[in-house]
Amino acid sequence: MSGIKVGVVGAGWAGQQHLKGYDALDDVEIAGLAGMETELVAQLQGEYGIPATFERWEDMLDSLELDAISIATPTFLHAPIAIAALERGIHVLTEKPIAADIEDARRMVEAARTSGRVLQVVFNHRLRGDIAELGRIIDSGQLGTPYIAKAGWLRRAGIPGSSWFAQKQLSGGGPLLDLGVHVVDYVLHLLGEPEVATVSASTYAELGAKAVEGFDVEDIAIAFVRLTNGATVTLEASWDAYRADNNLYWMTVYGTDGGAELRVTDYETSEFTVFRNEDGANADYTATPGENGGHDRVVREFVEAIAAGASEWAKHDGSLGLKRAEVIDACYRSAESGHEVALA
Ligand SMILES: NC(=O)c1ccc[n+]([C@@H]2O[C@H](COP(=O)([O-])OP(=O)(O)OC[C@H]3O[C@@H](n4cnc5c(N)ncnc54)[C@H](O)[C@@H]3O)[C@@H](O)[C@H]2O)c1
Repeated sequence: MSGIKVGVVGAGWAGQQHLKGYDALDDVEIAGLAGMETELVAQLQGEYGIPATFERWEDMLDSLELDAISIATPTFLHAPIAIAALERGIHVLTEKPIAADIEDARRMVEAARTSGRVLQVVFNHRLRGDIAELGRIIDSGQLGTPYIAKAGWLRRAGIPGSSWFAQKQLSGGGPLLDLGVHVVDYVLHLLGEPEVATVSASTYAELGAKAVEGFDVEDIAIAFVRLTNGATVTLEASWDAYRADNNLYWMTVYGTDGGAELRVTDYETSEFTVFRNEDGANADYTATPGENGGHDRVVREFVEAIAAGASEWAKHDGSLGLKRAEVIDACYRSAESGHEVALA
């Protein structure tokens, strides 16, 4: 692999995961970091030996000859940064969700196709060892054909600390977009990428606005999703609701030959059961999660996609991130109209 010069925009939790990911790779130089927190940026510069830092992302693109950038900024900035970079022939790894609104997401994919450069969206939770193992169980045929999946990500008082998350203009949405996009990603990924036919969703904002000034997104959402293969998925996502005081995400699957229940509490596997009958008798068992992957693997796969050469780049045009965004966008439209929304 020849050397790749990368710049990272954003010094918050997400940006730091990208820095760690690049730092672990040979033949990648972290050439620049952009972020508005002067002290934090200087600290990260020292930690990772980064030659140049910037307050504004535009200055980093103007000053450095980069091969690739990571975008880990408030979501409304994903599109302008990605499009500016792609137009300069720079490969882009952007944080989820792909963009704050669906039109921006479409423009990003268009820019990737026009430039012929890589655009990838971070979906790190599908790389957890438990979620990946659930995928192996489904793929092995032990559950037969899955026909119902129930999944979600719920927090009791878990509105993110950075204030932009709760402002629609900056984030594009609340927990349905922030957490729900991960859930939509791992559910559709584990079910083998079925097409979504329709969604019907409701959103509520009963608690968030009382807790945080300027809060204008939902604090909880619930959706009923029909797939074109006849299966049904339900989704829930909350930042704030009267429920157990933990951070829970899960997936329940009912299939023609078995079922499975995966619950992840405070990022640890708390239940992972496969329900089956063998020779007419209960043959349930506890599954064992595989090795965890996360941003480290996302970053490595991005670098590998670039290193694979120009003939491979068109395979990474951000369309997976766009597909996920289309489901979430349809949920918001359904919630607003009070009607089911068709996608396929
Ligand atoms: N994949 C995951 O698990 C995961 C987890 C958390 C956040 N995220 C995503 O990562 C992104 C960032 O989230 P975060 O929690 O790190 O946010 P944050 O608020 O902690 O950090 C945002 C960073 O962007 C920088 N920034 C803002 N405007 C800028 C500009 N004009 N030029 C340069 N830098 C600028 C800020 O200075 C800050 O360093 C969001 O899209 C979020 O959805 C993903």
